[in-house]
Amino acid sequence: MPPLPIPDCATLPAPWAAFWVDADVDGCTKGLPPALRTAIGARWRQLLTGLAPDASLLDLGCGRGAVLAAARDAGITRLQGVDAAPIADTFFPLHVGSAASLPYADRAFTVVTSQFGIEYAGFAAAVAEAARVAADRLWLLVHAAGGPVHDDAREQAAQVAWLAGPIAPFDRLAAHFRAPSPASVADIDALRTAIVDHAASAGNTSVLEGVWRAISALQDVADPIAGTHALAAGVTAHGARMQAMVAAAPTAADIADAAGCLRASGFDVSVEDVGTPPAARWLLATRRPT
Ligand SMILES: C[S@@+](CC[C@H](N)C(=O)[O-])C[C@H]1O[C@@H](n2cnc3c(N)ncnc32)[C@H](O)[C@@H]1O
Repeated sequence: MPPLPIPDCATLPAPWAAFWVDADVDGCTKGLPPALRTAIGARWRQLLTGLAPDASLLDLGCGRGAVLAAARDAGITRLQGVDAAPIADTFFPLHVGSAASLPYADRAFTVVTSQFGIEYAGFAAAVAEAARVAADRLWLLVHAAGGPVHDDAREQAAQVAWLAGPIAPFDRLAAHFRAPSPASVADIDALRTAIVDHAASAGNTSVLEGVWRAISALQDVADPIAGTHALAAGVTAHGARMQAMVAAAPTAADIADAAGCLRASGFDVSVEDVGTPPAARWLLATRRPT
């Protein structure tokens, strides 16, 4: 498979901002395999129920607040989120900015958390920044590079890259809707067949299936050209998010390096794999008393 281009981080918040317009609190995790989701949810509950009710918690790359909601359910009320994307109507105060540059004093929060968010800010630098503002604990959950969820994201990003190539589905759809003809109908049939053929060798067909289904649905909408543009934008944004995830997921060596830096700056650290082979990893750190 050809290497994927690294996404431009300056443009990354836009695809995320678009995602969070419609996505639920658990939008980023509901596609995970059920056993993985259950294990992650149980571990968060176990960690959070050990906190004193007056603890303060900062969640990095918080999205709509999946971890903050779990913290609220555990009785924690002093909540703060940070995300690079502006997200409307959150139930917690949100600072829009990078997790690698936090506007908080040293040791400002009892605990700093992240669930599949901190790695997007440049893992090593963002972990150091999280440690700076954590008074007691750091609980960070990241995707595992080379694990099944990472591989799945790589495949979806590659499918979006294929759709953006010479097959040009969105140009062909727009041309058909602008001037329908027997030739354009035949072209759309050929497009659908090409998508099915491409999906035949895919492990995860969700992107291709989504586009294939959308081609039928567009026939019935009032403005199919606008619908085609919206479909193209949605698929492109999804590809950018998948690509970003592929590029950002820390390797086992990245985690070991981060653990070493945390130990050197006064934390006891443990690393826990989630799944076999690991789909995700916990980096759990507690500041040593001085
Ligand atoms: C996979 S989602 C996880 C969201 C949330 N933690 C959850 O579990 O639902 C990744 C989040 O990281 C955010 N993000 C991306 N780059 C970031 C950065 N440099 N600093 C802070 N947040 C970032 C995205 O906007 C997105 O909301």
